[in-house]
Amino acid sequence: MRAAPLERAEAFCRRFGLRSPIALAPMAGLDTLKLSAAVSGAGGLGALGALTLSPAAIGDWAKAARALAPGPFQINLWTPDPPPVRDQDHETRVRAFLARWGPKVPDSAGEARLQDFDAQAQAILEARCRVVSTIMGLLSPQWVERFRDAGLSWWATATTAGEARAAQAAGAEAIIAQGAEAGGHRGAFLAADAERTQTGLMALIPAITDAVDLPVIAAGGIADGRGVAAALSLGASAVQVGTGFLRAHEAVAPPAWAEALSTAWPEDTRLTRGFSGRAGRALATAYVRALEAPEAPAPAPYPVQRGLSRTMREAAQANNDLDGMQAWAGQSARLARAAPAAEIMVRMWGEARALLGAPSLA
Ligand SMILES: Cc1cc2nc3c(=O)[nH]c(=O)nc-3n(C[C@H](O)[C@H](O)[C@H](O)COP(=O)(O)O)c2cc1C
Repeated sequence: MRAAPLERAEAFCRRFGLRSPIALAPMAGLDTLKLSAAVSGAGGLGALGALTLSPAAIGDWAKAARALAPGPFQINLWTPDPPPVRDQDHETRVRAFLARWGPKVPDSAGEARLQDFDAQAQAILEARCRVVSTIMGLLSPQWVERFRDAGLSWWATATTAGEARAAQAAGAEAIIAQGAEAGGHRGAFLAADAERTQTGLMALIPAITDAVDLPVIAAGGIADGRGVAAALSLGASAVQVGTGFLRAHEAVAPPAWAEALSTAWPEDTRLTRGFSGRAGRALATAYVRALEAPEAPAPAPYPVQRGLSRTMREAAQANNDLDGMQAWAGQSARLARAAPAAEIMVRMWGEARALLGAPSLA
């Protein structure tokens, strides 16, 4: 007999030291320190997306986060992909295409350097955060053991039931079920699967809760109490929200991006490889739409495309020009509210509790 939605959420909150079963999504590339502190201060789980950060920066962030709010937080890493296959002639065509949307792209731009995964993982271990989360794949048995011995819980992102099963077998303590609605990168273990295996949360949550015996945190298109209540009813123990916090007062999305979210219907977002070479859901800007034309060059593999698109992305951000911006957005972008993050949290959880038949908290 399965526990009722609210009981399941309460058990999850007790286990991870939360007052609300709502986690901020880790969002690499954005400065989410204040947003994270606001979410954890309001009883949710704070987050750092550490993909691009040096080990020292990860340690500094954790110290600063603790100084701002005593609550728990997750630190998130991308597990490494195989090295990309390079094609210089094709990269030349991609550079020329990108220059239509921003400044000339330097010849060396494809040499994108990634942080050393083991050094980042070591910094997370030393930061002693409550949760280490991963996306794109699994931790090695050594890292699973080290994190477990140090008291960190590993949450693995899965986009399919098969990935969730593999994560359970590898020792994950919880599964972040990421639906195809989600903003930002899709966490398919194989880059090529990201477009092939697009499963919406309505089907993914029951599939994963049936496939594994672990708590499930639902992510993708959840931005108000209706989404939270639906996810918990389908078997999730908690939710993870990204886009729904991008317009919060503490968030630092550039104004053109934040503004465009407020009017974006689900069909105004697209899955695109145009920013990093890995598929992610973004607003359908002029650049993203131009990439869909038959004559547009296919994006280079990850992380080469990330390097190639950097000049365009940075110029667009500096000029607040949405068309070249890496404007990630989930399908519920329109529901993102411009309000203090704590207020967004409290309203989302209050609405969900009411829908699930709980007595009012007030
Ligand atoms: C701006 C942005 C950046 C993201 N960066 C990461 C990341 O670094 N690591 C990760 O695991 N997920 C990342 N995600 C995906 C989120 O973890 C989550 O799956 C997604 O936000 C849920 O869908 P929603 O945006 O509709 O709430 C990102 C999402 C957004 C919107």
